[in-house]
Amino acid sequence: MVITKAKQPIGIFDSGIGGISIWKEINNLLPNENTIYLSDNYNAPYGQKTKEEIINLSIKNTEFLISKGCKLIVVACNTATTNAIKYLRDNYTIPFIGIEPAIKPASIQTKTGVIGILATKGTLNSSLFEKTSANIDDNITIIEQIGEGLVELIENGKMHSKEMTNLLEKYLNPMLSNKCDSIVLGCTHYPFLIPQIRSIVGPKINIIDSGEAVAIQTKNILQENNILYSSNNNKATNIFYSNKEEIVMQNILKKYKNVIVNYSEF
Ligand code: DGL
Repeated sequence: MVITKAKQPIGIFDSGIGGISIWKEINNLLPNENTIYLSDNYNAPYGQKTKEEIINLSIKNTEFLISKGCKLIVVACNTATTNAIKYLRDNYTIPFIGIEPAIKPASIQTKTGVIGILATKGTLNSSLFEKTSANIDDNITIIEQIGEGLVELIENGKMHSKEMTNLLEKYLNPMLSNKCDSIVLGCTHYPFLIPQIRSIVGPKINIIDSGEAVAIQTKNILQENNILYSSNNNKATNIFYSNKEEIVMQNILKKYKNVIVNYSEF
């Protein structure tokens, strides 16, 4: 029955804690929804892997979330979305929501005509990203930058380190000197770095991430499928699974109630 299905959790996966930036937006917009989050940090980072490896890991994550009864899956990872979402949609009946770098909105908002994108190698090299960027107005210059090392530092609890500042300066300063006025965060780990990015780029640069848009899309698709959990009485349960270290995850989540963090092999 539809009511029972609506109670089932939304599944969310990422290579690590990055997708928590998406979970936060979903939890904010849909606080009654139960969620199950999978952090595949044993296999992180995904950004350096081949398309085939990323598809195989995405299948494994999907199977785990389906085995937990999820009604919809949010692929809270640009790398997995751009490389594997087509495969997932073609092979499973459950609805999938993905996240892709927001270069289209950036190309509309830019005044200087130069936008920067920081993302993983896997995302920037994907055919889906290539297709999206080919549709951008020819007058717009896109500066692509692989954020090599950023995910590893975040996953290792070194978000606020000198190494992080050095890497961010190295990646962002060339964008600024080329008159870029909009920076697209093309990896779900990067919204955690916004305060540091802001202090490097200054107040005038538009920093664009797609977390809120993903939450809105999730709500729309739940509604369309008649599986939105609309009860106000639900004390939502949010279960987070990690297959390596849970400490960094626990730190990020400590201010949230109704959150359970578990270790699991998957
Ligand atoms: N959070 C990821 C993304 O959005 C994954 C990065 C990685 O594991 O390299 O692309």
